[in-house]
Amino acid sequence: MAGFPTRRPRRLRRDGVRDIVRETDVSSDDLVAPLFVDATADEPVEIPSMPDEQRYPLDDAVVRAGELRDLGVGGVMLFGVPEEKDEQGTRAWAEDGIVQRATRRIKNSTDDLVVFTDLCMCEYTEHGHCGVLNDKGHVDNDATLAYLRNIAVSQAEAGADFVAPSGMMDGMVGAIRESLDSHGYSDVGILSYAVKYASAFYGPFRDAADSAPSFGHRRRYQMDPANTRAASVEARLDAQEGADMLMVKPALPYLDIVRQVREEHDLPVVAYNVSGEYAMLKAADEKGWLDAEETAEESLMCIKRAGADLVVTYFAEELARRV
Ligand code: PBG
Repeated sequence: MAGFPTRRPRRLRRDGVRDIVRETDVSSDDLVAPLFVDATADEPVEIPSMPDEQRYPLDDAVVRAGELRDLGVGGVMLFGVPEEKDEQGTRAWAEDGIVQRATRRIKNSTDDLVVFTDLCMCEYTEHGHCGVLNDKGHVDNDATLAYLRNIAVSQAEAGADFVAPSGMMDGMVGAIRESLDSHGYSDVGILSYAVKYASAFYGPFRDAADSAPSFGHRRRYQMDPANTRAASVEARLDAQEGADMLMVKPALPYLDIVRQVREEHDLPVVAYNVSGEYAMLKAADEKGWLDAEETAEESLMCIKRAGADLVVTYFAEELARRV
């Protein structure tokens, strides 16, 4: 009874009508822009595998954060390239570490931009792994937690709104929450990279942050892309340990997981549209095969449709200008 010709869904797609019945809206304050702050650079450095992305010296990073804020971008995710690396990743929790300095400067100049600080050791350790190693050369989970506690406190002290642990250590959220609270930082939140897959789509980022492991791989701590139930376990544990927001990463090949975490939790869900997702569109655009801005906007829409509240993306500037 309710079929054609009475029902004509195309009526809802006419110009003007299409907009008022649209289910998913995106706005610039749903966007978080990754920002690479480089202690070794005197001027912005191009990242070959990520066209139009740069590593910024401190002063330029502060300017860049202000520009993003003026465009309406909701937040920045700070990644550091330290002046030197060592076995223990010492520069990750230094009071004058590059992320700590950048956080202080950005929060002093732009208090309405939310600052997330990546909380991981891979950019700071010589070996490029996300924690300290045991005598077998594997990341020692529980020993690493002690470092993560210190890094969290140093980032909170610098003024971070949210620390964002990305190393996939078991118990990391609980350890960080306890450490922040016991140092008087109960207002500082945790965006957990709760569901982070061992993905080849991180390749360009490892160039950008100079954080590729010098041996081995990250599959002993990051998740197997084949697994769905493991995502439930990870998100549940992090929510129980006190995460304020849950991230799924990467985004586009994992939209089923974004939807699943959305359905299983009432916390905000964040999706990370990672470096490889960015590089693919940029490369195809350079060849004239597709339009990077249009496909990026469509991607953002789809990530939100799947259930993400916030999207971390290297397209943040372009998208903020369009939406
Ligand atoms: C560090 C970290 C990585 C990314 C974010 N934080 C790299 C990795 O785990 O190898 C990837 C981001 C991207 O690809 O855009 N732990």
